Amino acid sequence: MDETGTRADDDTGRALAEIAAATTPDAVEALRVALLGKAGSVTLRLKALGALPGDQRKAAGEAINRSRDAIGAALAERRRALDDAALDLRLAQETVDVTLPGRDGHRGGVHPVSRTMERMAGIFGRMGYAVADGPEIEDDWHNFEALNFPPHHPARAMHDTFYMRPDGSGVPRLLRTHTSGVQVRYMMDAVVDGSGPPLRMIALGKVYRSDSDQTHTPMFHQCEGLLVDEHASFAELKGTLVAFVRAFFERDFEMRFRPSYFPFTEPSAEVDIAWHQADGSVRWLEVLGCGMVHPSVLRNVGIDPARYSGFAFGMGVERLAMLRHGVDDLRSFFDNDVRFLRQFA
Ligand code: FA5
Ligand code: MG
Repeated sequence: MDETGTRADDDTGRALAEIAAATTPDAVEALRVALLGKAGSVTLRLKALGALPGDQRKAAGEAINRSRDAIGAALAERRRALDDAALDLRLAQETVDVTLPGRDGHRGGVHPVSRTMERMAGIFGRMGYAVADGPEIEDDWHNFEALNFPPHHPARAMHDTFYMRPDGSGVPRLLRTHTSGVQVRYMMDAVVDGSGPPLRMIALGKVYRSDSDQTHTPMFHQCEGLLVDEHASFAELKGTLVAFVRAFFERDFEMRFRPSYFPFTEPSAEVDIAWHQADGSVRWLEVLGCGMVHPSVLRNVGIDPARYSGFAFGMGVERLAMLRHGVDDLRSFFDNDVRFLRQFA
């Protein structure tokens, strides 16, 4: 082989070694430019062919072409190898571990007061009580008058609340102070549509009073209960409440019936439950008011008190939730502190 061909083969060997040693796509590209680019060494040698004597030109041209093809193939091969390696590396680094547990989203939960009301409705539902409803903005007649609170009765003072005339009419309305107004609505509906008495209902919902301390909030929930039948008795009222408390707490709690006064029941009682304090002492916490439906209330809704008698009760939902879950301040239910609420979710 002539001198030019030998030099071309030496250069090719060096170029192939440099290509094989390139470790990045950029390095491969730089070699391509240096060898095969417009001013690359192989290109320049091709351009110089014309200056060779005619008898050498053919052999030299073939040698340079072989060199160019070999370098071109080596560059393509090296680039592919580096691209494959880069892809393998990415695949290895970006693997998704499908066995990892998912990130916990912000899962909501039922509020402990709602949960307590659902529990109460379940227990009374199994005792055959229907669930009724009434408006939170109530009129004076349903909240007070029909329940034997005449306009200036002192018992109204214990039910201080907001009064309004929402429709500009003469009918004063108020944020209801207890759920007992639903008794009135339910009995009147039953008389009108002939579905009762006998009747049994509970009503759960919000009530409002001017109260705030460890065991009182200005808005709280009550569970009203009413049974009217021909021979309803105070003994049955007591038995019903004892059975409820046992089902609600899933154990016996010390309970006491304390004589009390409500204008719409006679006789009346309040029920307290032993509230065990952190320091070991015991306080009594009032959880409900109850009594035999007053004959005037039955008469007000069109039920004959000579034939029918009834008993009723109104429970404080938060008070029962407090005792069941060992919460020592009733206001915690409405602070919206998720650390507190999460414990019940
Ligand atoms: C009444 O509201 C009567 N309507 C209950 C009743 C119904 C009597 C049917 C007879 C027949 P009282 O004001 O005591 O009663 O309230 C009933 C219960 O609600 C209380 O025993 C207590 O558990 C709860 N309660 C009262 N005020 C608050 C308050 N501010 N915050 C939380 N719970 C309260
Ligand atoms: Mg009371």
